[in-house]
Order: sequence, then structure tokens, then C-alpha cells
Amino acid sequence: MKDTFYITTAIDYANDKPHIGHAYEKVLTDVIARFQKARGKDVFFLTGTDEHGEKVFKAAKKKGEDPQKFVDDISERFRNLCTILSVENDDFIRTTHSRHEEANKKIVKAMHEKGDIYKGEYEGWYCVPCESYWTDKQLDEGKCPECNREVEKKKEEGYFFRLSKYEEDLLELYDQKPDFVFPESRKKELLNRIEDGLRDLCITRSAFEWGVPFPIDDDYTTYVWVDALSNYITALGYPEGDKFNKYWPANVHMIGKDITWFHAVIWPAMLMSLGVDLPETVCAHGFLNLGGEKMSKSKGNVLDPFELVEAYGTDALRYSLLSGGSIGEDSDFSEELLVKKLNNELADNLGNFVHRTLSFLNSNFDGGIPEREEFTESDEELVEETRRTVDEAGKDLEELSLNTALEKVMALSKKGNQYLNANEPWNNEGRAPNVLNVCGNLCKNISIILFPFLPDCAEKIWEQLGIDESIRSKEWEDAKDFELSDHEIGEPEPLFKKRDVQTKEEEKRSQI
Ligand code: MSP
Repeated sequence: MKDTFYITTAIDYANDKPHIGHAYEKVLTDVIARFQKARGKDVFFLTGTDEHGEKVFKAAKKKGEDPQKFVDDISERFRNLCTILSVENDDFIRTTHSRHEEANKKIVKAMHEKGDIYKGEYEGWYCVPCESYWTDKQLDEGKCPECNREVEKKKEEGYFFRLSKYEEDLLELYDQKPDFVFPESRKKELLNRIEDGLRDLCITRSAFEWGVPFPIDDDYTTYVWVDALSNYITALGYPEGDKFNKYWPANVHMIGKDITWFHAVIWPAMLMSLGVDLPETVCAHGFLNLGGEKMSKSKGNVLDPFELVEAYGTDALRYSLLSGGSIGEDSDFSEELLVKKLNNELADNLGNFVHRTLSFLNSNFDGGIPEREEFTESDEELVEETRRTVDEAGKDLEELSLNTALEKVMALSKKGNQYLNANEPWNNEGRAPNVLNVCGNLCKNISIILFPFLPDCAEKIWEQLGIDESIRSKEWEDAKDFELSDHEIGEPEPLFKKRDVQTKEEEKRSQI
């Protein structure tokens, strides 16, 4: 049996349409899922929508819509987002679906049976956008410490989860499993907060709120975070589903840095209460900033991934998201940056190498990759460079360093261009078969290690190389192989079209 690999994204609030930050998280996750498949793992990739809670309910009311209809529409947009981004998720969980609601009730009941839920009264400051309570001490100059927005005083009688009971266990977890939270910098913040002391968590809201009915008392619904976090196991059919037995525990929960507390403290405590194994790694990615500023609707700088794909294509959007910087840090994104990368890196480097190779094969070798003789030193160098890149980029991906892995793939294509320039097959008939054999094989190999990042582009390269499904390997290690020979290729076509670096902003300005 294959090793399994279970990876999830956060489930997105169904209170508004998707933005570029949501696209970023899905693409990051998709790269890891595709890479692990290329490594031979049996991968399960889950994403979905978080459809309950006050925030979603208020958004539906504001539009004058029935909440279920409202979330149905928004959830559909998130599904479409996956499609246009070529994100290959295996399941899409919705928290208003009965498969989730029923399993969530079982989870709450099991925590209650364990003696971890009790009735009490809570008074504190509530932040609706974060769906979180804060104490006086935690507030930041009277505002929410997470998002800096206004909070409201709330007093509620409700049910509490004994989070404080798990304080020691959580500290032990952080001590024993150094990779539980990635990157390291996030772990320190969490540890400080746990060491400050954990308070029990109010996990109910009054029943008129939009949520899963609280299974222990009809007067309440379940707190949206307890509802949402459980999606990672309800989607697998917890408690007895085959998928649960097969894929749990998750290898990676990919989330944004703002929700690390919920995933690295509350979620493991819930799992400890249930007696269920803990996930391997909670990977907290940084935020995308737009033109150096935090993205926000009020600033009007929220970018729509649908518009970007429509304008520049999936590959260009995925590439610009993935090459922004290290996963744990915030990275800058803008339409201008996207276009620059499309022109300078995708078209001028990768597209150029593949097109030069294929056009030369087409016009000089009857549209085929020729047989070759012994490798010369120069050929050998490039072959070795390829094999090193496959190993090193693979190691980077195992370590969740996606941007450096992608840099290495692109550097290999640059090496291909340099090799062509240095060997000048157009001026050297004797060398030409070897050089073109190596370059043809390199195009194939690049497409294998590019596939997790830019699957559409890799498919196009395979197609132009005449490598159909029957002989196509996506296995990572096969990118080290240079055995394609005497092979007929397809029709060469440029992979990328260069664009003007005129963003919508500039367009608007030029129209004034
Ligand atoms: N519904 C909760 C998650 C529940 S998971 C059990 C939520 N939803 S969200 O729609 O607000 O965010 C979904 C994901 O997108 C989160 O991981 C969040 O960090 C991420 N991002 C939201 N804005 C972002 C950026 N500007 N940049 C990158 N990621 C961002 O939180």
C-alpha cells in the first residue's frame, strides 16, 4: 500500500467573494499535494467553505438574502476558484452540509462525555470579524488584538470547553514535536500565550444564531470555530469512515498566520479531548500585501483572482503567487509584478528555452528528438545539473520551501538557454544531434518538476513534445532520466505571450 498524505487548506468564510489571499493559500496547498503525488504518495487534498457564524449571517442579512441561499452562492464561487486556478482538490467540504453537521454533533457529544464541556457564564469583549472573545488585558488599546477592529461587550450563559485542562499537554506537544508549527517564529508567539495561562473557551452561542445545533442543549448553537475546525475530520467521515482510518492524521494543515491560535492550540486540544491523533504540521503562511499595503476592502486594494486569470491566465497567476517569497513571511503582490514576472521569467526564460528547442527540432530534425552519441563534458554538466536540481528542489518542497524550489526549476531552464547559446547547434552540424537530444530531454524533465507549480504549462510542454498520456510520467525521480530518443514531437507554439506592464490602475489613470 502507498504511503498516504493528507493536506488541507483553511475553509473560507462564505461571507464574501474570494480574493487573491484565498487563491494564494489554495495554490500553495496544491503545489504540495501535486508534489507528494509525484513522490508516489496517496494524497488527499481537502478544501471548502466555513458557512456559519455571526459574520456570515450578518452578510446575508445585509444583502437581504436567506442565509442558506447566500452561502450556496458564495460557496460555488470558491469551488470555481479552485477550477480556474487548476487546483486539484479531492473533496470540498461545506459546514452547512449534513455530513459535516452530523459528525460535528458527534464530536461535541464525545467531548462532553469526556467531561470536557460544562455550563457557565462568560463576559468579555467580542470581535465579530474574528468570531473571538478577548479579555480586558488582551485588548490592544480597546480594540481587537488580531484585526484591530472595534469589539463589543457580551455576556453569555453558555457551555465551555476545558481548554485550560490541556495547557500542560500542549506545552509538552510543542516540546516533543518541534515541527508541529511551521515556521518556527510563529511557535514562539504561541508558546508565550500558552504560558500566560489558558482560559476555558465558550463554545456555544444562543440558538437564534446561524450555526450547527448544539447537541447537548437546544437553546444553543455551536461556536463557529468548533464547528469549522472539525471539518478536517468530518470530511473524512469521522468517527468510523474509511477515509478517516486511511488518511488521518493530516500531514499538513495549510493556514494563514492570523488563524494559527485556532489551529495550533484549540484544535489540538479538541483532538486530545477526543483521543484522536494530532496532525503533523500546522503551516502558517504569511499574508499577501498589495503594493506594500495590507489588503483591505476599505482601501479598495482587494484583487480579484477571477479577473487576473481572465486577463493573464492561470500559469501567470500561479507563478506570481508562488515566486513571491518564503512561505512563512508576508509577500508583496501586484498586477504589475505579475506582468513583469510573466514577461521576464516565464516568457523570456522558460518559454524561450522550450520554444527554441522545439522549433529547432521541428525545422532541423524532421520534428523529432534525434538519437545521440556519448555525452560530451558539456552535455554531462547539464545532465548532472538537472539531477542535482531534481534532488534539491525535492528537498525544498519536502521542507515547505516552495519559492526556492521554483527558483531552482527556473534556474535549470536558464541553464538550458545558456547551454544552447554555448553549443550553437545552428553553427555546428556535428554537435547538433547531441545538443538537441539533451535539450529535448531537458524540456521533458523540466515539465515534470514544473508540474506541481504550473500544471497547465507542464501539460502544454508535454503536448508539444508529443508525450501523450500513455507515455507521460509525472514521477519526480523520472525528471533525472535522459532516455527520450528517436521520438516524434508535436507542433511548437510559444508557451507565453508577453504583455504590456499597464495595470488596470494605470489604464484608469490614462483614461482620465
Ligand atoms: N473560516 C476561517 C478559517 C476556518 S479553518 C477551520 C477563515 N476564513 S477566511 O476566509 O477569513 O480566510 C481563509 C484563509 O485565507 C485563511 O487561512 C486566511 O489566513 C487566508 N487569508 C485571508 N487573507 C489573506 C491574505 N491577504 N493573504 C494570504 N492569505 C490570506 O479564517
